[in-house]
Amino acid sequence: MNTTLAIEVPFLDLKTQYCAVEAEVNRAIADVLESAQFVGGPFVERFEQEFASYIGAKYAIGVSSGTSALELALKAAGIEPGDEVLVPANSFFATAEAVSNVGAKPVFSDVNPSTFHLDIASAERMLTSQTRAIIPVHLYGRAMDLRQVAEFAAAHRLQIIEDAAQAHGSVRDGIKVGASGRLTCFSFYPGKNLGAYGDAGAVTTDDAEQARKLRLLRDHGSPAKYRHSVIGTNARLDSIQAAVLSIKLPYLDDWNQLRRKHAANLSSALTGSPVTPPEVPAGSEHVFHLFVVRSRQRDALRSYLSAKGIATGIHYPVPLHLTEAYQQLGYPGKGALPVTEQLAEEIVSLPMFAELADEQIEYTIDAIRNFAG
Ligand SMILES: Cc1ncc(COP(=O)(O)O)c(C=O)c1O
Repeated sequence: MNTTLAIEVPFLDLKTQYCAVEAEVNRAIADVLESAQFVGGPFVERFEQEFASYIGAKYAIGVSSGTSALELALKAAGIEPGDEVLVPANSFFATAEAVSNVGAKPVFSDVNPSTFHLDIASAERMLTSQTRAIIPVHLYGRAMDLRQVAEFAAAHRLQIIEDAAQAHGSVRDGIKVGASGRLTCFSFYPGKNLGAYGDAGAVTTDDAEQARKLRLLRDHGSPAKYRHSVIGTNARLDSIQAAVLSIKLPYLDDWNQLRRKHAANLSSALTGSPVTPPEVPAGSEHVFHLFVVRSRQRDALRSYLSAKGIATGIHYPVPLHLTEAYQQLGYPGKGALPVTEQLAEEIVSLPMFAELADEQIEYTIDAIRNFAG
């Protein structure tokens, strides 16, 4: 029987957000079209300045995606074929893929069972004489405490490249993610807290030399037309995306605040329910790119919610060391990184976006509390 559901809760709703900024975005896109400056030029420079100032970094270098941000940052940090780079096994594939794409080897670490961030004790066990860098990921929008990572990196002379693809506007101990002075990589994929209308990304840094290298690398290693001082690539941020991002950036803090409000409502109502809400450690701000809960009956819960019109996701269902593409690296199979492996079976991401209506949140809470398993 085909029953019509009273309320539907999509996982993400980009259309409603577009409607809120439609006139401004359409005007900005028209400005780019009229200027005929489609690659580089004033729209890109303006967004780079605005984003650097929002983050509190000296430089922001716009690039074509979060993946290219990571690849170029690794290159700017001097990572080369034969080097090993430590990455958490619970992240989006691109964190590791970028390492492979510069010819280095991703080495997977387990994660902390309460924050789901890279576990430094596990990373330490993976160290070899080839280890050159570590990529902590501010996963789901929760800013990671990098003090231990910094001590560990200093002791072993490792570069730190931060993956902030999910953490625009997140803060740790009063410092915004991206303002550490280190190479920090952002994605503006449409579904991100600050999303473009296509692929886009940026790297922030306080280091003038790294900023110079990144600008060269994203544009064919070219300091001037038809001069190529190094081998780069084409990974430029295009002007239409930059113009859209300039319109959306002033809204980011309000949108993040709404996400935090929804998350607080969900967390308090779901305490003592069949799911475990996410922890927010002291000193850490969470911008809830994703609202990830745990459940021992995850798959049954997802089917039950789906039947009620509530969409969910899993971030991520396959730990990176068990992904088909990385079997060639000869990682030991299941059992190697137990926390990540257990999370992959228990985590479920609930709908989370700024425009969620109160009735959609209440409907989701009621459905979960009524889930008998
Ligand atoms: C943690 C993480 N790293 C890297 C990326 C790659 O970003 P992009 O899709 O813009 O290439 C993403 C995007 O989904 C991500 O979530």
